[in-house]
Amino acid sequence: MEMEAAMKPMIFETHAHYNDDAFDADREELLASLPESGINTVVNVCAEKNSLSATKELTENYSFVYGAYGIHPDNVGELNEELLEQIRQLCRSEKAVAVGEIGLDYYWDTESHETQAYWFRRQLELAREEKLPVIIHSREAAADTLQIAEESRLGEIGGILHCFSYSKEMAEKYLDMGMYLGIGGVVTFNNAKKLKAVVEAAPLEQLVLETDCPYLAPVPYRGKRNSSLYLPYVVQAIAEIKGVEEEEVIRITRGNALRCFGLNE
Ligand code: NI
Repeated sequence: MEMEAAMKPMIFETHAHYNDDAFDADREELLASLPESGINTVVNVCAEKNSLSATKELTENYSFVYGAYGIHPDNVGELNEELLEQIRQLCRSEKAVAVGEIGLDYYWDTESHETQAYWFRRQLELAREEKLPVIIHSREAAADTLQIAEESRLGEIGGILHCFSYSKEMAEKYLDMGMYLGIGGVVTFNNAKKLKAVVEAAPLEQLVLETDCPYLAPVPYRGKRNSSLYLPYVVQAIAEIKGVEEEEVIRITRGNALRCFGLNE
């Protein structure tokens, strides 16, 4: 089993929140178990001010953990010039691979659309200046996200549309820009017809694996705490939709993630 595991391609997890309280009881044990379970690269993604230093710490404590630094649209009320400067410095740290997660969220709508748009643009600019890709969160804000993406020439910045939830037509716009789509637990849900259609239409070469853990656990763990350990269920769903072997999904999405973040094996 172990020898077999060593030869198998390893999963690249592009979106986790291991700083979350949900992992307080077993964080170390869980993270330490990932490589032996076939997950040997993880990007821990910041969402609020408190996650910035916690993410940096995780990247220092685990060789296979990288960091994405930024403020989620729900929390941009925390942002100011000083904090943006702090994020810039973190973006220059050794294991920083992206600016994120950033974007627009009109579902929770915790900040005005104007405030969200302002800081989305500013963080896109930051990514361009620091030559890092972005991880975009966009929920019920398809038109405005696309408008800002086009104005900011997102294709030149690059990155991932995380937890992609829009139509096949909208996916095509981002795929044409050379962006990647982050696919997670939702693809295993019975009612996720729209996402399954997106996965079917998109080239495998532009998909990456993600959990968004502790959220969005795949079937059969839907509603439970998610972790990277459940990514094989996402792999299985993608393999089924694309009609390819699971190992092929793991190998190609891994290559995509490495390319997206500018990392080498
Ligand atoms: Ni997230």
